[in-house]
Amino acid sequence: MISKVKKAFICSTCGHNSPKWQGQCISCGEWNTYVEEILQKEGTRTKKKLKWNTSKANGLPEKISDIQLGATSRIPSGDEELDRVLGGGIVLGSLILLGGQPGIGKSTLLLQVANNIKRTVLYISGEESKEQIKMRAERIGAKNSLLYISTETSTEKIIGSAKKLLPEVIIVDSIQTLSSPYIESAQGSISQVRETANELQKFAKESSIPVFIIGHITKEGTIAGPKLLEHVVDVVLQFEGDAHHQYRIIRTKKNRYGSTNELAIYEMQQYGLRIVSNPSEFLISQSEEKYSGSAIAATIEGMRPLLAETQALVSDAIYGTAQRSATGYDLRRLHMLLAVIEKKASLYLGQKDVFLNIAGGIKIIDPAIDLAIVVSIISSLLDIPVEKTFCFSGEIGLSGEIRSVSRVEQRVQEAARLGFNHIYVPFNNIKKSGPKAEINIVPVKNIRELNETLFSR
Ligand code: TYD
Ligand code: MG
Repeated sequence: MISKVKKAFICSTCGHNSPKWQGQCISCGEWNTYVEEILQKEGTRTKKKLKWNTSKANGLPEKISDIQLGATSRIPSGDEELDRVLGGGIVLGSLILLGGQPGIGKSTLLLQVANNIKRTVLYISGEESKEQIKMRAERIGAKNSLLYISTETSTEKIIGSAKKLLPEVIIVDSIQTLSSPYIESAQGSISQVRETANELQKFAKESSIPVFIIGHITKEGTIAGPKLLEHVVDVVLQFEGDAHHQYRIIRTKKNRYGSTNELAIYEMQQYGLRIVSNPSEFLISQSEEKYSGSAIAATIEGMRPLLAETQALVSDAIYGTAQRSATGYDLRRLHMLLAVIEKKASLYLGQKDVFLNIAGGIKIIDPAIDLAIVVSIISSLLDIPVEKTFCFSGEIGLSGEIRSVSRVEQRVQEAARLGFNHIYVPFNNIKKSGPKAEINIVPVKNIRELNETLFSR
């Protein structure tokens, strides 16, 4: 018997479709992620859907040599940092997802882009009223007379009005508020998110109009999130940072038109987001005094060297089990480093609470930050401050060895430029290249040696 309503259980993490509920997703292995959704009522889809399939984009196969690339396939966004993470500007016809937690500044950033780009922009907001957007625009000083605001949420109507207005860029805030008339389930549900993203992707490709979509990630991951969208879109930008700190980072997680190594740093100010062109200077605390538990890491994030301050607090565990927490760093990796310090430098940490923080509320992915973290932990444990003119770069291996890092010359130069007079680097890096700079380069082989050179008195 054919049921009238087509339902399915969909995994909210990866979008896997299952006819029956299961505890664990067989596709991505996550637990308790299946939710029941009405996909479509019988007979509603086939007729309407045909409309989209008649376009020229579904034409005959073409020889690759016959395919022409337009001269201006990219347009500048008016924001040089954003252009860089996009791989040199906005590619025409691309679908770009900007994901991030609520309150991080996604709407602010894209409204700034809509203003600075000085082209016809259609900004669709299902989240805020036109007045709210106008108020934000005034706050950030946006005065683009070519900016159109719409609060429509049906994809059919949005695409309809875009065909009339013919904007050069479309911004959708957010994908979770859109709904497609071809899908029965509620706004923000997994199948709606997937369908609306697919429709926008198709429209972007057919019309060559680039479309930005904002996607929320909640901590619980209950709303169908950008995870699922990542397969559909061309570019995934991730907006990171702590809503309580002023710094924001945009990382490229996926880019069909460029490298995923780029990153942009912004500062949230009273009147919008500002580019931080010299991030190292901001991330290092300015105080002259020496404190134990602090060390500067010479990292490379994206393509740029970035000096960041790591801070650790090690104290006796008052309650039975020791607490460990990390902000801006992977907690599991912190556990690993603590085990290595204990075993290889014979420093006892088992009954100690360890709190770790990367100053500025940013997250560093470069493994070369390990060395500074180890230094800040030992410094706090022994209560011996590290010289303020020292910085560190190196990855820690499981046997306590300090493993070589990439592009050590760039790190050394940045440290020298910022006035550091010692940089500790992996021994193996020095053997090969031996970079020259006006700074003392101290090679270190392992944690024990590091502990002895820095902290023995
Ligand atoms: P918003 O762009 O609304 O975040 P999202 O769209 O990611 O949810 O901005 C969130 C926060 O930024 C808000 O709490 C207020 C703050 N903010 C500023 O500090 N300065 C500004 O100029 C603006 C527009 C917002
Ligand atoms: Mg918003």
